[in-house]
Amino acid sequence: MSKLFTPFTLKGVTLRNRIAVPPMCQYMADDGMPNDWHLAHYTEIAKGGVGLLIVEATAVSPDGRITPGCLGIWNDEQALEHANIVKAIKKAGAVPGLQIAHAGRKASANRPWEGDDHMTEDDPRAWETMAPSAIAFGGGILPKTPREMTLEDIERVKADFVSAAKRALNAGYEWLELHFAHGYLAQSFFSSHSNKRTDEYGGNLKGRSKFLLETMAAVRKVWPAHLPFTMRFGVLEFDGRDEQTLRESIELTNQFREGGLDMMSVSIGFSTPDANIPWGPAFMEPIAKKIKDSTQLPVSSAWGFGKPDLAEQAVQNDALDIVMIGRAHLENPHWTYTAAKALGIEKPALVLPAPYAHWLERYKI
Ligand SMILES: Cc1cc2nc3c(=O)[nH]c(=O)nc-3n(C[C@H](O)[C@H](O)[C@H](O)COP(=O)(O)O)c2cc1C
Repeated sequence: MSKLFTPFTLKGVTLRNRIAVPPMCQYMADDGMPNDWHLAHYTEIAKGGVGLLIVEATAVSPDGRITPGCLGIWNDEQALEHANIVKAIKKAGAVPGLQIAHAGRKASANRPWEGDDHMTEDDPRAWETMAPSAIAFGGGILPKTPREMTLEDIERVKADFVSAAKRALNAGYEWLELHFAHGYLAQSFFSSHSNKRTDEYGGNLKGRSKFLLETMAAVRKVWPAHLPFTMRFGVLEFDGRDEQTLRESIELTNQFREGGLDMMSVSIGFSTPDANIPWGPAFMEPIAKKIKDSTQLPVSSAWGFGKPDLAEQAVQNDALDIVMIGRAHLENPHWTYTAAKALGIEKPALVLPAPYAHWLERYKI
């Protein structure tokens, strides 16, 4: 009996199965505006049968974009275009989610296929970056030293997250994910690699958690209680200090839960280029299970679950409540249908919308 293909309910939202597409930047926007590419891309994947589709990291302000091609939701014009994507995802039977983000010191970069590196100072598209401390990420490609954020900057970014969440709600999104992972702004407050502040936003765990807890609390107030309120967070770095980082992450995740978080997408910190990540199929599964067991929060995770049996197993093991399948959806937008066939689901085409499912189940020649 497949568990992957059973519904999952979180707050007032029920997913038709436990397969989700994690946020994946397309780098195809201008001035943060969603366009035909995004509409076609997200519609295509939603039609494939997935339960939840989280639209890519969407910046809360222009300087919060990773690249000039990143999506935004800092004005109403952008939100109107998001609403079209939302309608198309819903029409295909999936739940539309949005990840809202600020890229911090990793902002102002070239698109991945154009170098993935910081734009040079003389590039007219480049902008000033900011972070908890004036420390560059480095690693060869991200050398730009960010400006240390003032208390006014901190207040502004919190307010930008709140405005973004309100616009996401008005656009019709039914699932919100705060991007507090991957070395972007929020993660860089948590990580002692990037946060060397001596004021109340730095130092010990309490100080390094303050920006994350305050931003979450501010957004919680405007995001309705009946819709899932979730976060992606890097719970470890694979930098040789993981015992302590995991302990701190668990402590903080318990505070997130107490503050009204509904689910955690367990991910990696990416706060330092000096990490030794043990890439491999489903390698985050035991870490996600540890977070779930220690915090009692429902969890999801990504990274290498793109084989149907691995995804099924992660749910059967009670490690993940939903499984994020990323790149496999770029290869095959109908991954869910393919997985349903591979796992022996009865009438697998029924995971697809009726105009496809009807014909695929009707004629077996
Ligand atoms: C093209 C691409 C864009 C991505 N953009 C984001 C993003 O916007 N936000 C995020 O949290 N992770 C992002 N990621 C990471 C994915 O969400 C996911 O964790 C990763 O692809 C691993 O899962 P997979 O092995 O199923 O592909 C991106 C990954 C890819 C390949």
